[in-house]
Amino acid sequence: MARTEPETRARPAGPTASRDELERIEIDLLLEGIFRRYGFDFREYAPASLKRRLWRRIHAEGLTSVSALQERVLHDSAVMERLLLDLSINVTAMYRDPSFYAAFRERVVPLLRTYPFVRVWNAGCSTGEEVYSLAILLAEEDLYDKTRIYATDINESVLERARAGIFPLDKMREYTQNYIAAGGKRSFSEYYVANHEAATFSRSLVDNVVFAQHNLVSDQSFNEFHVVMCRNVMIYFDKPLQDRVHRLFYDSLATFGVLALGHKETIRFSPYEERYEELDSEERLYRKVR
Ligand SMILES: C[S@@+](CC[C@H](N)C(=O)[O-])C[C@H]1O[C@@H](n2cnc3c(N)ncnc32)[C@H](O)[C@@H]1O
Repeated sequence: MARTEPETRARPAGPTASRDELERIEIDLLLEGIFRRYGFDFREYAPASLKRRLWRRIHAEGLTSVSALQERVLHDSAVMERLLLDLSINVTAMYRDPSFYAAFRERVVPLLRTYPFVRVWNAGCSTGEEVYSLAILLAEEDLYDKTRIYATDINESVLERARAGIFPLDKMREYTQNYIAAGGKRSFSEYYVANHEAATFSRSLVDNVVFAQHNLVSDQSFNEFHVVMCRNVMIYFDKPLQDRVHRLFYDSLATFGVLALGHKETIRFSPYEERYEELDSEERLYRKVR
């Protein structure tokens, strides 16, 4: 929901309020309640996808209105946990969009070689597939030993899965193809042990990874990074929130640090556009220059 100016927010919908207007009020109240009760701030998430996901949870809980969901969420933290999973959309994959990793190898790796120590922030890492992909890439480029990856997400339960590094075995064929397309240099199966239904990735890949809960909406910067990688997260935010998160990333990057956004996001039209130079226009890799 877009955060509106106080006078707009206070304006009553009136006696002829449409169903849509009433639903907007209900959603605003629900999001306000979630924020005040749990501290999760979804008030500036893009409305269309938010609404779809709220209704998914309403039906799954056997309810019929947004207000009924509000009642449940405020009084039952288990419902909030389930709603959080719906709202935080955790879809991910290893070497998702392989061309992104190929461009990272070609354009970012040479820059990282110039540093004695490298700090990477993978924001919105979900269940960790992106983190393991990056760790493998850095290891193959002999950079992993001098790198620390801070992998964060709003959602503690996906972070637990990320820490474990156990992914479905039936995904490995797809991930192997992605790995090869991304310029992988070895045999992908060297990185995991397959048993029953699962592929357990080598613990050495997370030796230099710190997993931590961090909320891009409300938490501050916590370090100075050489790379900030955040893909498929800001698409769920409205424009003012995207701009605030761009500010957070800008403040979190060292000068000449790299912002890695992937296909779906851009710094174009953000107030920070002028402060970066483009390293790769397709894969949206930018370098902070001022
Ligand atoms: C679609 S996944 C993207 C995962 C991965 N970056 C990728 O591209 O495959 C979006 C992730 O963003 C996280 N997320 C959503 N809102 C967030 C916030 N305010 N702060 C931090 N993470 C957030 C979600 O929990 C989810 O794991």
